[in-house]
Amino acid sequence: MRTATALQFTVSLALLTLGRSDFTPPLINISLDKPPEDRWLPLRNHFNDTDYQSLISNVIDTTVPKFVHHAVVPIAAALEKYISQPYAGEILGLSKIFEVNIGDIILLNLAYEITAFCTSIVAQDTKGNLYHGRNLDYPHVDILRNFTVDVQFLKNGQVAYKGTTFAGFIGLWTGQSAKKFTVSGNERAQGHWWENAIAAFLLRNFPVSWLLRQTLEEAEDFQDAVVKLSKIPIIADVYYIVAGVHPKEGVVVTRNRESAADIWLLNPLAGVWYLVETNYDHWKKPPPHDDRRTPAMKQLNITGQSNINFDTLYQALSVKPTLNSITVYTTTMSAAMPDMYQTQVREVT
Ligand SMILES: *[C@@H]1O[C@H](CO)[C@@H](O)[C@H](O)[C@H]1NC(C)=O
Ligand SMILES: *[C@@H]1O[C@H](CO)[C@@H](O)[C@H](O)[C@H]1NC(C)=O
Ligand SMILES: *[C@@H]1O[C@H](CO)[C@@H](O)[C@H](O)[C@H]1NC(C)=O
Ligand SMILES: *[C@@H]1O[C@H](CO)[C@@H](O)[C@H](O)[C@H]1NC(C)=O
Repeated sequence: MRTATALQFTVSLALLTLGRSDFTPPLINISLDKPPEDRWLPLRNHFNDTDYQSLISNVIDTTVPKFVHHAVVPIAAALEKYISQPYAGEILGLSKIFEVNIGDIILLNLAYEITAFCTSIVAQDTKGNLYHGRNLDYPHVDILRNFTVDVQFLKNGQVAYKGTTFAGFIGLWTGQSAKKFTVSGNERAQGHWWENAIAAFLLRNFPVSWLLRQTLEEAEDFQDAVVKLSKIPIIADVYYIVAGVHPKEGVVVTRNRESAADIWLLNPLAGVWYLVETNYDHWKKPPPHDDRRTPAMKQLNITGQSNINFDTLYQALSVKPTLNSITVYTTTMSAAMPDMYQTQVREVT
């Protein structure tokens, strides 16, 4: 991929001229030793009130039905009752930092729960190393590119876990617990989700991206992570993709709100050295109008197990339409090599 052929050079030059090219997002340290309300203050070094208000109006106007605004008013008014700590405190903190109303921040965070179309890949090379990559696709909202951030969550000054999110969203769809596991989430599309999600939220089920973050914070290892991600009730169906540090530790958990519907494992000895998950159950064919799975598999087959690494994984996530006009970012990671965690914000023309 990173060989500079004349064609690629010309293409990147053209992108540069247009002011569009891939870039690395800001890295932000969030200290878990601070009270939840103060944790996200470092965002102010990168984003101001005006930026944040335009993010909120963009996302909410394009994704949130009007009736949901009404449904969220009582939650905002009784924040502490419906939202557990530290999330309630972090939401309150964000509303103070950027001077926006709490209900809007809750809506912003819930909108993220459901509109994430994605591709995630976990793969094992012939030496037993695990690689995990993901594209996060988000329709309608170009503005999210500029809000993409890598976040290191610190405890006692050390990195406890790391992830990628959008500034102002407190959950994670992508993350790494060093030397333990990596995890990504992909939406599992269902109808009537807003009604269901709000109902489940009021029953105190976890938002999908909050469970992912909590698992990064608490799970001891790959096994423990898979158990937590399989069992804890959440507000919407989802796929959780997890990779560990030992051979065969790769899995796609297909979630219903209450529990796992299916657990799909790497099986390198039987030739299953990678798993590709987009937004459809792996045992069904993806619809022809949205097949991002086959192109990625084709590319991985060309690569071959002995050649899989960070670069070739990135390459598999960059074939079209696996990479497409709504892809916001690509992250590649491996829990055994935590310093290699890398996110690129994508600009696809
Ligand atoms: C906020 O930041 C943007 C750039 O991100 C800048 O264009 C704008 O002028 C800033 N607004 C204020 C009120 O500082
Ligand atoms: C993102 O930021 C760049 C540089 O500040 C700016 O040129 C571009 O218009 C922004 N894009 C969006 C969608 O806000
Ligand atoms: C973030 O925290 C790490 C670990 O303490 C430190 O090495 C790094 O310099 C910090 N980076 C920023 C941008 O504050
Ligand atoms: C990739 O290879 C596997 C194993 O040989 C095969 O089952 C699958 O059909 C191939 N998929 C594509 C898209 O080439």
